[in-house]
Parts: sequence; C-alpha cells; structure tokens
Amino acid sequence: MTMLMRASDLTHHFERLFGDHPRIFRAPGRVNLIGEHTDYNDGFVMPAAVAFSAYVAIAARPDRKLVIRSEEFPGDFEFDLDHLPEQRTGAWCDYVLGVASVLQKSGHKFHGANLLVHGEVPIGAGLSSSAALEVASALALISLGAKQLPLPEIAQLCRQAENSFIGARVGIMDQFVSCMGKAGHALLLDCRSLDFQFVPIPEGIRLVVCNTMVRHDLATGAYNTRREECEEGVRYFAKWDPAVRALRDVSVEVLDQHVQDLPVTIGKRCAHVVRENQRTLDAARALTTGDLARVGKLMRQSHDSLRDLYQVSSSELDIMVEAAQDLPGFCGGRMTGGGFGGCTVNLVLEENAEDFARRISERYLQKTGITAQVYLCTAEDGAAELS
Ligand code: GLA
Repeated sequence: MTMLMRASDLTHHFERLFGDHPRIFRAPGRVNLIGEHTDYNDGFVMPAAVAFSAYVAIAARPDRKLVIRSEEFPGDFEFDLDHLPEQRTGAWCDYVLGVASVLQKSGHKFHGANLLVHGEVPIGAGLSSSAALEVASALALISLGAKQLPLPEIAQLCRQAENSFIGARVGIMDQFVSCMGKAGHALLLDCRSLDFQFVPIPEGIRLVVCNTMVRHDLATGAYNTRREECEEGVRYFAKWDPAVRALRDVSVEVLDQHVQDLPVTIGKRCAHVVRENQRTLDAARALTTGDLARVGKLMRQSHDSLRDLYQVSSSELDIMVEAAQDLPGFCGGRMTGGGFGGCTVNLVLEENAEDFARRISERYLQKTGITAQVYLCTAEDGAAELS
C-alpha cells in the first residue's frame, strides 16, 4: 500500500468515526546499526529510520476532551485535558497521553481533540513502535496549538514522556532518529550535545531486519538495572577523575587502567559502553568510506560485547546472528535495540537480500522451531505531516 493510500484510508476512517476532516502525521520506527546502550551514557549511536511508521490523524474539538481511538488496538479512550493521569494507565494510549501530559507541563496549550492512531511498527520487536507513536502524537498535538517546536526539541519531550510517564528510563536515540532520520542515511548522533551527522549508506545495501519473534519489554527491570550499573561505574571513575560525568567521558585507556578495580559486573558494563562508543565512531568513518568489511567487523564485536559484557542478548538473537554469517551478500549484522528479544539488523547486498531472507528464516526455524519475520528495509525520512 502506498503512503498516500494509507493516508486516505485513515482520513476516511476518521471522518466516519468523528464526522470531521483530520490532519495526519507520520513518524517512523528505527533500526540501530551500532551504538547500543550508549545513548543514556551520553555516548554515540548510529540508527536509521525505517518505513514502518505510526500515523496519527487529528482534529480539534470544541471542548477539553482528548479522545483516542485506534484502527488496530482495542478501546475507546476519553480524557479531560485538565485532569490528565499523572502516570501510565497500562493501556496502549499511554504513549499518546504521556506526550500530552508532558507537553502541557512544559507550557503548551492545546485544544481538546479527536485522535485516530494507525500503528504499523511491529510491537515489542525493538524497532521503536513506542517512540514512533510518541513522535507522531506530539506532532499532531502541537499542530493544534499556536507554538511550533523544532524537531530535536520534540524528540526530547517525547523521551521525557517515556521516562516520567511510562517509567522506562530510555535514552534519546529512538525519538531523535524518528524525528530527524534521512532517506538513504544513517544518523550518527552525539547523545550529549545532540550534534549529529548523516552517514550515507552505500548504494546497493539493504538493511535486512530479522525478527526473532521473541518480544522484548523495556519496562521490565533489566533495562533500568543496566542504567543503574552504568551510574555505579561513573561513581568509581569520578573518584579517579572528577571530570567524569558519564561513561562517555571514560577513554579506552582509562578503562583498561582501572577495569580490574571495579566489581566484576560493573566492570563488564563499563567495558561494553566505553568500547561501543569507540566502535560507533569507527563504524561511521568506515561506512562513509564504503569500507563494509570494517563495518561488519565492528558490528560483530558489538554483538559479542552485548552478549558477553552487557548481557542483553538472548539465545534466539545469538542464533539469528550466527545464521547470517556465511550467507551470500552478508556484510555485517548484530542484535539491534534494547535486547532480550526483538530483532537483528544485517547489511546485505541488494541482489542477495531476498535469498538471504529466505535462507536465514529456514536456518532459524530449524534451530528454534520459530518462524521469523524478515523485513527488507531502507533508511527513510523522519517524521512529518502528510499532505
Ligand atoms: C532502547 C531505548 C534506547 C536505547 C536502546 C539501547 O531502544 O529506547 O534509548 O537505550 O534501547 O541502545
């Protein structure tokens, strides 16, 4: 289905439900090429936006109600803008509500509104379905007010919604690339300064995303525990060097000097983050010069480090990564996103991509008994209003 078709379908559905003509906003999910669990350590990430998107159709209401419906998800939600819940309710509409609540708290005034959500980012697959919904909702809600906001600020507000309303202490990566992604490019982001640079993905390379079909859940404790372990690491390094505010400030040399003085688990977490930052910068350079062999090596090191040091991989992710290694056209691959399930990302030569998808699914099925979903993706543009 083309984007225009989808927009007109959503418009018709909205008109039938609410008797009004909507504006429609789209925000994409993402795949992260490298730089995992570095964003909340003020480090570097290199994701790309993908075509799977969340769509929000919106029209103002004359009262102060926020009415939220979806084409795929059950429920007919109605809230009073002057008494929005302070925390997650447990329903899917939390991502819209959280954004509305954070926007209001940061001084944005908007009308009551009817919203219709269409989500196509696979849920729980580590492709940022929640960030996509947050960003599309933010654009939609902001469109009703007088004050517009630059996209990087919208990304920050959406992240805040996820942190304070949903209770997942995520970093800025997903919301940022959903806002700022660019077709044909990965985005190298400095998560401290929010400076970024687009890195062209060489012609003829597909991003092949393999869904293990084992769902991950960021709201469970493991993600937040990793964050606390990193914070503990920072406290150690700050004792040796007061200039250290985040693991971003620890060089590979300083890490090597002190890692044996840290409790074992904390040492492992720090070693992953410090080296992953360096790998991300190296991978951006290698991708720019088209050195895919080097990018592939760095992606492999990233996966091994996430498995052994950060301990956020799963047996299914490991099987999926191994299954790719000797397939024709494979240039590099690793788990992507928060981990504990979800997807792997693979750089594959375009002419081999379909064959790769078929063969990796066969291998995965044989080893796990699970039928994977494989998506042939390209890097896409970030969030925008559909005309
Ligand atoms: C999730 C979070 C991101 C990031 C990744 C791990 O996707 O939303 O902020 O921390 O995990 O790299």
